[in-house]
Amino acid sequence: MPNDLIVVSHRVFTSNTGGNNVMYKKNILMPMLCLAISSLVACTNLTNPDKSSPIKIQNHSLFQRIGGLPVLTKIVDESIDEIANSPRTKRSFDGIKLAPLKESIVLQLCKITDGGCIYEGETMLNAHRDAKISEAEFDAFVDMFRTTLTKHLPTREKNELLKILAPMKRDIVTPL
Ligand code: HEM
Repeated sequence: MPNDLIVVSHRVFTSNTGGNNVMYKKNILMPMLCLAISSLVACTNLTNPDKSSPIKIQNHSLFQRIGGLPVLTKIVDESIDEIANSPRTKRSFDGIKLAPLKESIVLQLCKITDGGCIYEGETMLNAHRDAKISEAEFDAFVDMFRTTLTKHLPTREKNELLKILAPMKRDIVTPL
């Protein structure tokens, strides 16, 4: 189950800061944890340059830097509500159930930002072929999406996400 994967990964990374007797746990457990998951993440900088943070796990995925499922879900929720109601884009959403669509898009974004989700929906080509989405509609979506991202993400993460999504345009837009 995708959610199980998320919970596991969440526990791994939040356990770094939780609990009492912090120094003991970090000193003993973190190097072991890093060894155990070294094929998944880069565990580096195990020294304590400023004494405040003995462990730094670097190379966080975009998914983690975005804020994980809570932030991703909020972004998708707001974006789909907006795109499905804007006069510029709502045409395609006639008769479409928004709740399962949102869930599917969250899984897809979680997957492509390295959050470990399994997306089993359609390809972008198949999902959008019948809607015959125009370039103007796609660009209107990007405008709205960019504004929503600005509300929730720092510039770096916003641009990384937009860069990943941009090449999908060729599969989503139906040429005239
Ligand atoms: C990079 C931009 C976009 C991404 C990543 C994206 C992603 C997706 C995903 C994951 C699905 C669900 C597929 C499935 O569950 O099988 C979907 C469906 C859909 N998308 Fe997009 N989409 C994008 C842009 C757009 C735009 C610009 C529009 C309309 C203006 C749009 C309209 C729709 C509609 C109407 C559906 C439902 C299709 C159906 O159920 O028949 N999408 N999209």
